[in-house]
Amino acid sequence: MITKIGTTKQDVAEAAALVRAGELVAFPTETVYGLGGNALDADASRKIYAVKGRPSDNPLIVHLTKIEDAEIIAHVTPDARRLYDAFCPGPLTMILKKKAVVPDATTGGRQTVAIRFPSHPVARELINRAGVPIAAPSANKSKHVSPTAAAHVYEDLAGEIPMILEGGDAEVGIESTIVDLTGDTPTVLRPGAITAEEIRAVLGEGDYYRGEIKEALAPGMKYKHYSPKVPCYLAARESLQSALERLMAQGLRPVLIATEETAGKYAPSISLGNTAKDAQHRIYGALREAESYDAAVIEDLSDRREYYAAMDRIKKATGGNRL
Ligand code: TXA
Ligand code: MG
Repeated sequence: MITKIGTTKQDVAEAAALVRAGELVAFPTETVYGLGGNALDADASRKIYAVKGRPSDNPLIVHLTKIEDAEIIAHVTPDARRLYDAFCPGPLTMILKKKAVVPDATTGGRQTVAIRFPSHPVARELINRAGVPIAAPSANKSKHVSPTAAAHVYEDLAGEIPMILEGGDAEVGIESTIVDLTGDTPTVLRPGAITAEEIRAVLGEGDYYRGEIKEALAPGMKYKHYSPKVPCYLAARESLQSALERLMAQGLRPVLIATEETAGKYAPSISLGNTAKDAQHRIYGALREAESYDAAVIEDLSDRREYYAAMDRIKKATGGNRL
């Protein structure tokens, strides 16, 4: 199969027709690129799992453009409406109880469904033109680094899908925050650009919220994730030099991934910029760039609370390896 890179309005219309016909297309969102198919078509969902190489018990996120459409597929709670008003469209996914029209293939057999309203204009146009909710995981091969550019999607999925819509560099750069609204209290399952504190500030202490928002794991988070094809190691700021030297002593060519301030002192290095927002924006590109070296050493930023979401992805990429 030839994979077309779609750049025009006409291409978005063509992609929407492909989705309606049960095919898959990759499309940009503000977080990462998604691999989309008709969420109400079990066969389309099965294709997503097959193309990604993803375990079928790991549920998909369903993408919509407005809250009224969520009513068709899920039981929308007052908390969901408040979060929608505060953060959507944007990098937030909410887990709600599902309605029967959503096939088990889309939710990994769960009675709940993840919904998200992306802000990227190409994503919105695609969903609106398709006229169906679009199920989409990140458009990478399972376990590989999530794609933040059309070229990343092409690297992983060329020849396997008919179209990749071009939408530039993903603005946020890491996947949406996931909040589960099906339990007694809201629970953040995956950290992201919208923090648990911001969610708590909206839901407050009233009728709809009791106790703390705790952090738990999304079902997909149990799998190895976000891994570059070269070994990655976490190292404390003061151990970076010795970590790099240990790898070089093994005859390897390592690269350092660190904040601008630290990266400037080492070569070769890849900068994560000056702020936590920069780090979220750059981390996946940096991990892919690291694949042209033999190994990567990544600066441990756990001492800075604002880097929590970026560090979540870095810890997954290093899989607990430290130097
Ligand atoms: O930013 C994003 O959310 C991107 C873009 C494309 O929208 N999508 C994304 O999808 O990151 P994916 O499939 O890579 O990650 C979805 C996560 C998984 O960890 C999955 O387990 C969790 O969402 N999830 C989906 N449905 C769920 C459900 N019903 N209950 C609990 N977790 C769920
Ligand atoms: Mg993913």
